[in-house]
Amino acid sequence: MNIHFTYLPGDGIGPEIGLAALQVLNAMANVFGHTLDIEEHLIGGAAIDKRGTPLPDDTLASAKHTGAILLGAVGGPKWDHLKGADRPELGGLLPLRQKLDLFANIRPAKPFATLINSSPLKSEILNGVDFVVVRELTGGIYFGNKGRDNLGAYDECRYSQAEIERITVTAFELARTRRKKVTSVDKSNVLETSRLWREVVSRVAGDYPDVELEHTLVDAMAMHMLTRPRDFDVILTENMFGDILTDEASVLCGSMGVIPSASLDADNVGLYEPIHGSAPDIAGTGKANPTAMILSAAWMLRTSFGLEPEAVAIEQAVEQALEAGQVTGDLGGSLSTDQMGKWVADHVGR
Ligand code: NAD
Ligand code: IPM
Ligand code: MN
Repeated sequence: MNIHFTYLPGDGIGPEIGLAALQVLNAMANVFGHTLDIEEHLIGGAAIDKRGTPLPDDTLASAKHTGAILLGAVGGPKWDHLKGADRPELGGLLPLRQKLDLFANIRPAKPFATLINSSPLKSEILNGVDFVVVRELTGGIYFGNKGRDNLGAYDECRYSQAEIERITVTAFELARTRRKKVTSVDKSNVLETSRLWREVVSRVAGDYPDVELEHTLVDAMAMHMLTRPRDFDVILTENMFGDILTDEASVLCGSMGVIPSASLDADNVGLYEPIHGSAPDIAGTGKANPTAMILSAAWMLRTSFGLEPEAVAIEQAVEQALEAGQVTGDLGGSLSTDQMGKWVADHVGR
């Protein structure tokens, strides 16, 4: 098969973990007899520097054309003085997600057995943890009106019923393939958008009598996720709560560097990226863990190309690396990003 996708390395550690993932994809292509057809484009700060805009037209056109995008991360201190849509995040990543209508962001938290001791949490809390956060990605406070007036600043948070409905359907459909429980997270004791969220989620849940639904307030959820994470199966939430809770979930998994994500539209467009950022504090040092990026690439193969055995082969090679301690420093190993990528690449299909 010709695997045709858009590759957006981005900023900071993005290009470093990207190279590791490309090595692994190349190895997969050799083992399985596929070809890679990669359209590499600029996004974020790299695009600002070279093209004067965080989301050049050719980048967006390629993403729309291939419908399968592998992205590193965007942003960094070099561009932090920029405002609004001139920024890598607000002008690059967010419009990419919005223009492709990638409303469903899926972020798994299932600690690898070998990494239980990499987490600061006790193993008795972590054993058996396996949940997925379904984060609404194209609405809410990220995309409302923002600005300044003579008193201060504001960010508007809006959700339409339709936006809540479609992400709720995603969560319930996913729960049906798992342990059949949805925990919806909101702040309905304060926010009107959250009151609507709760109403719509409860109504949609009526179509899924086989799936258990519970509602939880986000502040309490931040605690439950650390004290009884085993109790959760599918966690459904809005854009900003999902952003915050998934960084918290990475603590259960041992490192920010191990959680991949998929952002999907209603049909078959998918953007695959680690949940972490461009890690400017370690960029250029070879310390970045490429696991989340490699697992994002595997997810792309599975979901955008239907290549299940190929995805599994990559996931198994990653697990072998974790078991053998062939990992980066964040997980207690001594390999560089590049060395870990090579190790995983060498073990695809073995
Ligand atoms: P971050 O996720 O980049 O880093 C947080 C901490 O985790 C840092 O100490 C970093 O070194 C560590 N870390 C992250 N990824 C790692 C990896 N693969 N291996 C080892 N350690 C890793 O978050 P931040 O520092 O708050 O943000 C930095 C920049 O990244 C900001 O400009 C932010 O806007 C951007 N960002 C982009 C994305 C994205 O493109 N999807 C996501 C989050 C943050
Ligand atoms: C993420 C990131 C982004 C977000 C930023 C960079 C806009 O933190 O993908 O988690 O908040 O969605
Ligand atoms: Mn985030």
